[in-house]
Amino acid sequence: MKVTVSRKAHFNAAHRLYRKDWTDIKNNEIFGKCANPHYHGHNYELIVHVKGEIDPITGYVMDMKVLKDLIKDEVEHRMDHKNLNEEVEEFSDLIPTAENIVIVIYNWLKPHLAKGHELTITLYETPRNYVTFSK
Ligand code: NI
Repeated sequence: MKVTVSRKAHFNAAHRLYRKDWTDIKNNEIFGKCANPHYHGHNYELIVHVKGEIDPITGYVMDMKVLKDLIKDEVEHRMDHKNLNEEVEEFSDLIPTAENIVIVIYNWLKPHLAKGHELTITLYETPRNYVTFSK
């Protein structure tokens, strides 16, 4: 039987949604306030879900301390108080929308999970707007 364990985390980050190959007018038309050249911030809420079999020895799907540290090292350390466009390499050529951010986070975490563990990432950009990604 598979069980899903989840861990919540948080980071603050700034971003700007724009395409370098578009004019300011076009960027403003498509991305509105999010295209502000002076950037803006979000309080991102992250939920990492790991689904897998319960280990009969420990009774755990995954040690939550390990998951907590993994999120801290792989995600918070790279994102918290950062300007995503300028300071996170993955977004040097990728628009840092919530949709793209969840995929980047998924790719950072997945290699560290045990084989057979299924990963789902949920990211709240605002309390009402959130995106979810899993393969
Ligand atoms: Ni934004």
